[in-house]
Amino acid sequence: MGAASVDPKPNPHATAEQVKAAYDDPKLANVLYHDWEAGTYDEKWSISYDERCITYATDRFRAVAGGVGPYGHALELGCGTGFFLLNLMQGGVIERGSVTDLSPGMVEVALRNAENLGLPVDGRVADAERIPYDDNTFDLVIGHAVLHHIPDVAAAMREVQRVLKPGGRFVFAGDPTDIGNFYARKLGQLTWWLTTNVTKLAPLTGWRRPQEELDESSRAAALEAVVDLHTFDPADLERTARGAGATEVRAVTEELSAALFGWPVRTFEAAVPRDKLGFGWAMFAYRTWQRLSWVDENVLAKVLPREVFYNVSVTGRKPVA
Ligand SMILES: C[S@@+](CC[C@H](N)C(=O)[O-])C[C@H]1O[C@@H](n2cnc3c(N)ncnc32)[C@H](O)[C@@H]1O
Repeated sequence: MGAASVDPKPNPHATAEQVKAAYDDPKLANVLYHDWEAGTYDEKWSISYDERCITYATDRFRAVAGGVGPYGHALELGCGTGFFLLNLMQGGVIERGSVTDLSPGMVEVALRNAENLGLPVDGRVADAERIPYDDNTFDLVIGHAVLHHIPDVAAAMREVQRVLKPGGRFVFAGDPTDIGNFYARKLGQLTWWLTTNVTKLAPLTGWRRPQEELDESSRAAALEAVVDLHTFDPADLERTARGAGATEVRAVTEELSAALFGWPVRTFEAAVPRDKLGFGWAMFAYRTWQRLSWVDENVLAKVLPREVFYNVSVTGRKPVA
């Protein structure tokens, strides 16, 4: 458990040598990539701690786990800047939180965000495959967009079962399906190629980001390919959770047309200078995404198989002994 151990410090400026080593070491790549991103992560992914993201987080949670709660003490794995846990706390789903992440930079930002929001949260640097908490500690374990980064997902699931109290629940949301990842990546690559080439044309050069920023984004994308380890088939994910000892396991998927719209939009936003797209664009993108999500949930989900949607979430419980 190592209560006396000291968490490692963030390293937002990795050396070229460290980056080179990281190409063969997904965990080191995760630490370097996410330490480097921690300071700008909320801005990059339009993460906020207001009604918009509270609704998004609680909707994702309830879509898979139902309207149950509140949960007393929750642990988040791969918390990043705290998007999921802090917004679920603000939405009344969780009372007290512990955040963990492999990246010290992310834990630092998550704890700062919690403090700014006045929420009772503590945190540790931790690998989801070896969770540094005692057996039977938490009422709820959560994660968002983290499973696809963990080399041994089955080991992490077993750790989740260990630290949950009997009857406790886990919820992992926001990971890519096999099929969803295929079309999202293709669309993202096409959008990047089109935007960075079209903006070479004379009338559009004002829409081109400086070359050094584009080069940096390409380097980041290369490291990103090392940290993205898995995509999931919903039934396989359910099997992995059951294999770890979970009961009442259920995976649900969301976003098809919303993802087909959202990934090119996000890539376009990353490929042009920030000041070119104002509040009007942000509202257009968000409202369109919301409408398409409604179509996905209320129309497409009724007629299409769950495998074709982009996001998969999984929940289950630790059996009551
Ligand atoms: C895509 S980010 C998601 C962050 C946050 N949950 C969110 O939704 O904004 C994935 C996070 O998982 C963390 N991570 C990657 N591998 C991990 C591991 N083995 N154990 C714990 N955290 C890990 C990364 O450092 C990163 O902060």
